[in-house]
Amino acid sequence: MNYRHAFHAGNFADVLKHAVLALCLEHYKRKDKPFAVIDTHAGIGAYDLTSDAARRSPEWQAGIGRVMDAERPGDVARVLAPLLRVIEAMNEAGTLQAYPGSPEVSARLIRSHDRVHLCELHESDARTLDRRYALNARVKVEQRDGYKALKTLLPPREKRGLVLIDPPFEGRDEFVRLAEAAMRGLERWPTGTFVFWRPMKDLWSLDRFDEGLAEWLVTERDIEPEAILRADMWVRDLESEGKLAGAGLVIINPPHTLEADLLVLMPWLCDVLRQGEGAGWRLDGIVTPEMAAAWAE
Ligand SMILES: C[S@@+](CC[C@H](N)C(=O)[O-])C[C@H]1O[C@@H](n2cnc3c(N)ncnc32)[C@H](O)[C@@H]1O
Repeated sequence: MNYRHAFHAGNFADVLKHAVLALCLEHYKRKDKPFAVIDTHAGIGAYDLTSDAARRSPEWQAGIGRVMDAERPGDVARVLAPLLRVIEAMNEAGTLQAYPGSPEVSARLIRSHDRVHLCELHESDARTLDRRYALNARVKVEQRDGYKALKTLLPPREKRGLVLIDPPFEGRDEFVRLAEAAMRGLERWPTGTFVFWRPMKDLWSLDRFDEGLAEWLVTERDIEPEAILRADMWVRDLESEGKLAGAGLVIINPPHTLEADLLVLMPWLCDVLRQGEGAGWRLDGIVTPEMAAAWAE
């Protein structure tokens, strides 16, 4: 386990992921009933953008740094407001030194009767996380394999909320583990919102993965194709050399407001975060060849 999120915190992929997380939580808060957030790959919770790691790899400058500096038209400001409120609360006015990880977004947005369950496998990261939330009774930290934990954590007693699965994609088998987690997770909790993060390296393989997952969910779990939303963004040509060029989310059972909000956010975000030729985004469902054929009949 060599992956350290501190090198990537606040980059373009984080901004999209955390904006989606914040929008989902704000949606659940429209009803008074409690909800749970289960974050299987939590990281350390929050990141110091002046740290050695962030200085050596200042990806945040081309991510949240640009977002904070940009003029945000009315509708974009509305959609980004939940995430930006969290960031502003962590920083002195007009400064950007701290950036929230997914745990901190959740911890700051939940209400007194909601809860967050965090799993982090890396020993010292889990310790850091545990210290951070030691006094917060609404946040529970476990040093544990987040994939395996789903077996006992789902369905949550609240029967409302979200599972975020945000692995480091260090191992070759990560896509397989992600798909298995999706299958098992949805078996245990078919009505929960599941947010899966995945990198975009080779679009052909990614589409095959998405289509296989969608096909299984629709045929084996009776998930409606409309209940699967995909939000991907790439900041330069996906074929380009160097660091990660694209990433995105598959969201199963998204809040019904999410697609319209992302339709406002994604073109603006892509424009602000582009790093060269070939940047783009997509917000769509996942249509497999089998589904397309069935619909055509
Ligand atoms: C991409 S980072 C998570 C970032 C975090 N979700 C956020 O948005 O701030 C992935 C994290 O998963 C941890 N990890 C790796 N394998 C894991 C596993 N099987 N279970 C739980 N955590 C794991 C890594 O140590 C790393 O901190």
